[in-house]
Amino acid sequence: MIWPFRRRKPATPDSLLQSDPANELYRLFLERGARVHKTAKWHHYFDIYDAFLARYRGQSPTLLEIGVDECGSLEIWREWLGPGARIFGMDINPKSAELAPPGVKVFIGDQADPAFLRQVLAEIGTPDIVVDDGGHTSNQQIESFEVFYPAMTPDGVYIVEDTHTALWGGQWDDRPGMTFLDYAAERVKDLHAWSGIHANFRRYHTHPAERVGAEPEVPEFTRTTRAISFYDSIVAFERGPRREPWQERR
Ligand SMILES: C[S@@+](CC[C@H](N)C(=O)[O-])C[C@H]1O[C@@H](n2cnc3c(N)ncnc32)[C@H](O)[C@@H]1O
Repeated sequence: MIWPFRRRKPATPDSLLQSDPANELYRLFLERGARVHKTAKWHHYFDIYDAFLARYRGQSPTLLEIGVDECGSLEIWREWLGPGARIFGMDINPKSAELAPPGVKVFIGDQADPAFLRQVLAEIGTPDIVVDDGGHTSNQQIESFEVFYPAMTPDGVYIVEDTHTALWGGQWDDRPGMTFLDYAAERVKDLHAWSGIHANFRRYHTHPAERVGAEPEVPEFTRTTRAISFYDSIVAFERGPRREPWQERR
């Protein structure tokens, strides 16, 4: 029997595409040859990557992908972002390091091990982009996020893939009472740490220079995150400096 994943792929008619065919990252995926290191991505992800990451093309961002398997995605990132990009991978399987494209380093270790993650950070410096496509359990996703996110550039982007596993239960549900989608929803509440307290309402209708009393304490996340976007199976966190909000009638 021919293993179904190894059969020659039929051509993909435009009617079946799930990202914009003019999106060059999607084209790189669609046009992968037969004898290359593979990458497995959902078709609708490419427009999401493009929306968040196109601004880094031709620049020199530091990208870290967690979970790289055959490293096909690292090849695509390299081609799409350009030669100035610093590309790194991470995987628990030592085979991935052997498949790293030229000029790309793949670290071997467990994404749920904060000590290992800090070693990775010490080597790569400050990431601009983190893509988590690793083991997809809640604990792994949360542990990686908690180490890498605060260490990113102030306008960096952190993308967690395949967040549908939060709904699968079983082995993916390894953080009692907290799937990654629950965790991300808690971070949405953190985005509202200032405006979400009704007692602050008057303060935020007052000119910042005329406010009395100390600023309410909020999590670091609130001050450093401008947006969280939810898609089918992806959560994207956009970093950006924020200050207490202000509403005016003009
Ligand atoms: C879905 S594959 C990655 C696919 C790859 N990003 C691509 O685009 O083709 C998931 C990878 O995560 C790795 N992985 C699983 N558990 C991990 C862990 N705890 N830490 C790091 N990597 C892990 C697996 O070895 C596997 O290579």
